[in-house]
Amino acid sequence: MNDDLQSKIEDAVKNPRNLGEMKDADAIGTVGSADCGDMLRMWVKFKEEDGRKVIDRATFQTFGCQTAIAVASVATEMLAGKTIAEARSMSGEELAAPLGPLPPVKIHCAQLVESALRSALSGEENSPATPAPRIANGSTLLSQLNAGQETGRKIKIIIEK
Ligand code: FES
Repeated sequence: MNDDLQSKIEDAVKNPRNLGEMKDADAIGTVGSADCGDMLRMWVKFKEEDGRKVIDRATFQTFGCQTAIAVASVATEMLAGKTIAEARSMSGEELAAPLGPLPPVKIHCAQLVESALRSALSGEENSPATPAPRIANGSTLLSQLNAGQETGRKIKIIIEK
């Protein structure tokens, strides 16, 4: 990993943007990586702007590596103001673009962010904002995992390919 990329990742990890649960989110996506076992959850809030449904803000939590944290940090900043179609069309590479090109071994970290975003946006249309179903219990990644362990309930996690 080159020094510039390393320092951008370290900056993002020291001061991550949009980190944490969003209590009033309209959509939530949780994914796990088949490559490394890491997990990432993204919360998305929509608003209406000029008759279009756009992303107002996005936040994340992750049990992931520094690259996943850095990509999620820059990606959630970029998503504000994008329509659902625009956000859906963004690749992991585009979401990680502010950091610069990732080495091949870290590309799946950006894909984890892309998959969480797609999962959150699945079923969303470019229609006026309507609330999406909310997760009733365990609204944070950690609390949901803990709740699942206590009750023996299975947690639905989409494994990205
Ligand atoms: Fe798992 Fe980066 S190594 S997300």
